[in-house]
Amino acid sequence: MPKSLQIRGADKIGIKDVEKPCPEGNQILVKVVASGQNPLDVAVVCITASVAEFVDYYNGNTIGCDFAGIVEAVGPQATRFQPGDRVGGFLPGNLQEQGAFVEESFSTRLPASMPFEYAATIGVAASTAAIALYSHLNLPRYGNGAKPFNQYLLVNGGSSATGTMIIQIAKLSGARVIALTSPRNFDLVKSYGADKAFDYQHPDVAAMIRDYTGDAVGLAVNCLPTRESCKLICDCISSTGGRCVNLVPVDTSDAEFRKDVDFSLFMAFQVFNKDFQLGSDMYAASQDLRELVKDFWKQIDEEFMPRNSLKIHPVKIIQNGLEGVPESHKQMLDGQVSGWKFVARIADTPGI
Ligand SMILES: NC(=O)c1ccc[n+]([C@@H]2O[C@H](COP(=O)([O-])OP(=O)(O)OC[C@H]3O[C@@H](n4cnc5c(N)ncnc54)[C@H](OP(=O)(O)O)[C@@H]3O)[C@@H](O)[C@H]2O)c1
Repeated sequence: MPKSLQIRGADKIGIKDVEKPCPEGNQILVKVVASGQNPLDVAVVCITASVAEFVDYYNGNTIGCDFAGIVEAVGPQATRFQPGDRVGGFLPGNLQEQGAFVEESFSTRLPASMPFEYAATIGVAASTAAIALYSHLNLPRYGNGAKPFNQYLLVNGGSSATGTMIIQIAKLSGARVIALTSPRNFDLVKSYGADKAFDYQHPDVAAMIRDYTGDAVGLAVNCLPTRESCKLICDCISSTGGRCVNLVPVDTSDAEFRKDVDFSLFMAFQVFNKDFQLGSDMYAASQDLRELVKDFWKQIDEEFMPRNSLKIHPVKIIQNGLEGVPESHKQMLDGQVSGWKFVARIADTPGI
């Protein structure tokens, strides 16, 4: 019988037997081999455990948004995949009871040489990179015959799983990428294409970036959830102003933030045809973002995967599969993740 890792109010997380679901429409049912851990998984479990009003909202939902595995069955309108295909992708985990039961539009076929553990890092990061770069910052789409972008893009949190994906996709558009990270991750971000890396904790980092770029950073992506990270971005952005897309809500409306730096925010889950509630914040479903991300997954499937041209974020395997997830959540909450992503191999779970 299939198992799922579910959110449970006060107990936080538990493995449960579930009925095998039947895919509808263009859904595919995937037997998951590996699943990547995201900060959202941890956040939703924490919210459920600590905020009474959300217990019923999330309780019983299956944890995880990044998956890789083998197609078991396809819905009547699914056209791209068939049972037995090796796939990976992005699904609205934490919000639904059923697990890797996805729309085929947010999935890709995997090259035979790509381990499932690697493929389990792509889903959320790729979807997020597409929205941040192509929708919020208007970078030209790679492969559409567009001229190279050739402008500076600052990526704060460059060594995060999302950061390395954003760096490599921005490089494909021709951007000149500056990454903010710990010095131990300078080589990592450069290996994904960053032109230059700076230490976000250096007291003169903003002046160093302005000097290096000739005060020309007009665009930024902030992968960090703090006011300090937004303030640092304000200090780095050109004196003529600019734009920053935040991946986590931070209030930048007060006098501590420059008014000529335009902050925006989105949630990748806005592509799933349903308004997305995270704690007390609500994000409206967006048809435009949905079409953009679907189109990007098509490009991943038709171009990037056949050429094996996406560079995968480093992976750390969770001990004991799903049973080890409470511990890997704890390590993420403690800030121990640095330049790698936790991935659970389902078969490592004792008793499965
Ligand atoms: N809006 C959306 O749709 C969306 C989608 C995906 C992710 N997110 C959010 O984006 C963030 C990144 O997610 P992720 O999965 O990519 O994270 P992750 O891989 O777990 O991030 C780990 C990285 O964060 C960096 N970091 C931690 N504290 C830092 C600080 N104070 N200053 C600079 N860097 C710091 C570390 O860099 P060093 O070790 O180099 O210091 C580490 O490499 C999360 O908050 C997540 O919730 C949002």
